[in-house]
Formats: sequence, C-alpha cells, structure tokens
Amino acid sequence: MEIYPWMFICCISLYNVKVSSAVTTGLRWVRVNVPQYRVPGETAMLQCDYDLGNDTLYAVKWYKDHEEFYRFVPKAKPQANWYEVEGVHVDVTKSDSRKVVIHSVSWKTSGLFRCEVSAEAPSFASAQSEAKMEVVELPTENPVITGVEEDYQIGDEINLNCTSGMSHPASILHWYINEQQIQKQEALIQYPVEHYQHGLVSSVLGLRFRLSSHHFRGGSMRVKCVASMMPMLFQSDRESVVQTQTLPLREALLLVKSSTSRNMASTVLAITLIGSIRLLS
Ligand SMILES: *[C@@H]1O[C@H](CO)[C@@H](O)[C@H](O)[C@H]1NC(C)=O
Ligand SMILES: *[C@@H]1O[C@H](CO)[C@@H](O)[C@H](O)[C@H]1NC(C)=O
Repeated sequence: MEIYPWMFICCISLYNVKVSSAVTTGLRWVRVNVPQYRVPGETAMLQCDYDLGNDTLYAVKWYKDHEEFYRFVPKAKPQANWYEVEGVHVDVTKSDSRKVVIHSVSWKTSGLFRCEVSAEAPSFASAQSEAKMEVVELPTENPVITGVEEDYQIGDEINLNCTSGMSHPASILHWYINEQQIQKQEALIQYPVEHYQHGLVSSVLGLRFRLSSHHFRGGSMRVKCVASMMPMLFQSDRESVVQTQTLPLREALLLVKSSTSRNMASTVLAITLIGSIRLLS
C-alpha cells in the first residue's frame, strides 16, 4: 500500500486534536532502531517500533535498499516469510512483528533498511521509517609511508605519503611529528581514496614540510602516520560496536636521526624507517 505524507500528517493532527477526549485513532507512528555500524560476522538486530492505536496490524515488511527481505502477517500461515536478498541472512526464529535479526553480517549487508507497517480495514493506514546500517571492514594492513629519501639536510622539503590498509569505509589518517599531530592544512595533502574490490578503499594523505633544526629532539625526529576508523565509532554512545570491540589503530613510524658529517657546513640526516610498525590497541 502506498503511503502519502498527508495520511500521516492527518492522523497525527487528528490524534492531537482528539487526545483530550481520550478517543483513540489508528496507526500513529513507525520508528526503526537500526545499528549504525556493525563489524563483519556480528549479528544485527533491527527493531521496528510502532503505535497502531486502535488499528489492527495487517503486515510489517522490511526492505533493504527497496528489496523486501522479511514480512510478518499475523493472519497468514506461516506468519513470517523471508526472501533471499544478498547479504541479508534472517534468523527467522528470532524475528517477529517488532524486530528482525540478521546474522553473519558482511560488507554486502550495508544499506538502507526500511520498515513498513500497514493496518487492516477499515483504515488501511500505513507508515514507514528507515535507517542506514554500515558494516565496517577493518584494515588488516598497517599504513605505509612512502617518498622517503636516502638523506635530508636542514632546509630540505620533505614530501611523504601515507597510504592506509584497505578498509570500508575509508580509514582516517593523521600525521604526527614528535607526537604532535599536524593540523596545518598547508602541510597536509589530501588525495582521493583508492578503490579496490568489494567496496574496500585505502586513504592517502601527503605530508609536506621544510626540515628545520627545531624538529630534532635529542638528535632525532619521529614522523608517524596513524590510521583509525571513523571517529563516530568512538563517540556514539548508542553503538555497541564501541563497547564490544576495541577498534585498532594502526601506525607507521619513521625515525630521522641527525648525524654531523665531516663537512662541517651542514648536518646530514640519516633516515631510519622503523620497519615494523606497531599495532596499538
Ligand atoms: C478507531 O477510532 C476511530 C476514531 O474513533 C474510528 O473512526 C475508527 O473506526 C476506529 N477503528 C477501528 C478499527 O476500530
Ligand atoms: C603521493 O601520492 C600521490 C597519489 O597517489 C602521488 O600523486 C604523489 O606523487 C605521491 N607523492 C609522493 C611524495 O610519493
């Protein structure tokens, strides 16, 4: 059944007007509660809340990107039906008129989930609500620093790139010099993400600065690139991803050591690329 905005507006305002006389009306609202992020392999519970008022439920239908994958019709036999949609494996035993449980989510599960609720005669009212769910693909590789030259001298321009491991969505990269995050926009060069199979992407962030003696603390400079997944994952308090998993930060470290050459005029800097890169937790 089609839903027209006026239907809903009409019912809400009708309700508001009549609420004082305690007269109930039909379907008032539908609201989905869909996890914003999931990690591959996890289970996702998608809830559909609604207030039918004095209406009788005809059907609850779930769609992913406009394709129906689950339907609950109280008067049908069986009441629940599910349809094959790529990446959506419904756990029928745990799903009902108020929720669907999807197990073993993968990148294919990401999408827009819509719940449509409709009422029986005489109202035939229907309403819907939708929300996006994204399945996060964590990077398995550390970021890589490229563009490193054999040696540098004070006054040289340093031009580096940091490329993150593949992930979905894109990793966020930050450069640090001596543990200080580089914020200056003129020092950072944002390149377009590189696309790979299955929607995986890697981010590239350039760093450009002129080497000066103040960069050296005790004869060395540490240049670090840290890759993290979306900061919202850490901020959002309604996300269980944050509570159940510590998303790893991955980093690449470059250590630049100063060594005074025989030629007293300049300081030659030797580069040590610390090969193995720590995985922070
Ligand atoms: C629900 O209440 C409204 C307003 O009183 C009424 O017009 C309608 O027929 C009722 N619907 C049902 C299914 O009882
Ligand atoms: C950094 O990467 C970009 C995009 O791939 C490339 O055009 C640029 O030449 C690279 N710079 C360095 C210093 O490697």
